Amino acid sequence: MRSALAVILTSCALALLGCEKKASVPPPPGGPSGGTAAASSGGGSGGVTGDTILIGEIGSLTGSEATFGISTRNGIELALREANAAGGVKGKKIDVRVYDDQSKPEEAANAATRLINQDQVLLILGEVASTNSIAMAKTAQPAKVPMISNASTNPKVTEIGDYIFRVCFIDPFQGYVMAKFAHDNLKFTRVAILRDLGSDYSQGLADVFKRKFTEMGGKIVGEETYAKGSTDFRSQLTAIKRLQPDGIYIPGYYTDIGVIARQARELGITAKLMGGDGWDSEKLFELGGSAVEGNYFSNHYSPDDPNPRIQKFIADYKAAFGGVPDALAALGYDAAQVAVDAMKRATSLERTAVRDAIAATKNFPGVTGTITLDEHRNASKPAVVLEVGKGKTKYVATIAP
Ligand code: PHE
Repeated sequence: MRSALAVILTSCALALLGCEKKASVPPPPGGPSGGTAAASSGGGSGGVTGDTILIGEIGSLTGSEATFGISTRNGIELALREANAAGGVKGKKIDVRVYDDQSKPEEAANAATRLINQDQVLLILGEVASTNSIAMAKTAQPAKVPMISNASTNPKVTEIGDYIFRVCFIDPFQGYVMAKFAHDNLKFTRVAILRDLGSDYSQGLADVFKRKFTEMGGKIVGEETYAKGSTDFRSQLTAIKRLQPDGIYIPGYYTDIGVIARQARELGITAKLMGGDGWDSEKLFELGGSAVEGNYFSNHYSPDDPNPRIQKFIADYKAAFGGVPDALAALGYDAAQVAVDAMKRATSLERTAVRDAIAATKNFPGVTGTITLDEHRNASKPAVVLEVGKGKTKYVATIAP
């Protein structure tokens, strides 16, 4: 695992994997050692030295949602390589310090503290899982360090304060998307819900789906819960089977979804499974096999989209890392591009000025759609519905806000 990650963490990144253990690795040359910010007291001009701007990144490079962090890392890396090749920002090269949070919120919070107090970065990119972003944001906001989440969709993330942004849509919209698809396209009237009790993302999305589907005239016939990382979902699935739903909404992460889908099919459940962006991982196909095929989830982008901007991104990504980028890679790319664009537009490289420039982001042409940040620091963009196929997804529909 270490060596595989080392390949991914190339040029501008000095990765400190397993942040607890490796915290004593010295900063890279031209790194944060000359940082002038009093980061812990808030604001300031952290991360800027002679010819370098240091930013931070926190992601799940290992652990239960490792593909989220790895894909994001690649997307950010690609954007920063391009930005540096095009002359960087205000004559300076952008460098990124990356910490692995092992897919755990406590580690995400620790890593944020380290980026702010020790590395004194200008801003922070990440995380994917909403629960991890919430943990980071609670550290970044009081220190007045701008944070841009690429993919966390739970509303609570940016509610933490005016330094916290995201480049993706939020779950009140995403939940509506699958409710509408289930009701209008699949003509479902009876749906059961299976949610991850410990995940802000899963809880929020399940609540919205339930409300929207019911408003549309559908019926939620029953609800069950699970804990992330369980290996046996049979009792919940057996209870759901008895209710004979048309579909089961499971807004969880791919690792659990793969196991749930297999056990559902083993129990003879034929109802369609439906989910959200958390299903998006190449590992889903491996973990779920044929049991996940023919099911649907909402997402931020489709690699099938013929839009030239998207196809160019896919070609560049394949050339750099191999493989088709998933939504996390696309959103990581967009988050880094929005950060670069804001640093360029900012009146100075003080954190407050960079914050203001991020907040002013308008009509930015991202690969996941046009990004305008609203007064709540969220982006409003269309979502796609994808069908799971053999080793890849198939585009089904686009639903606009
Ligand atoms: N939206 C998820 C969350 O907030 C994270 C995610 C985004 C996962 C996109 C996969 C793809 O937790």
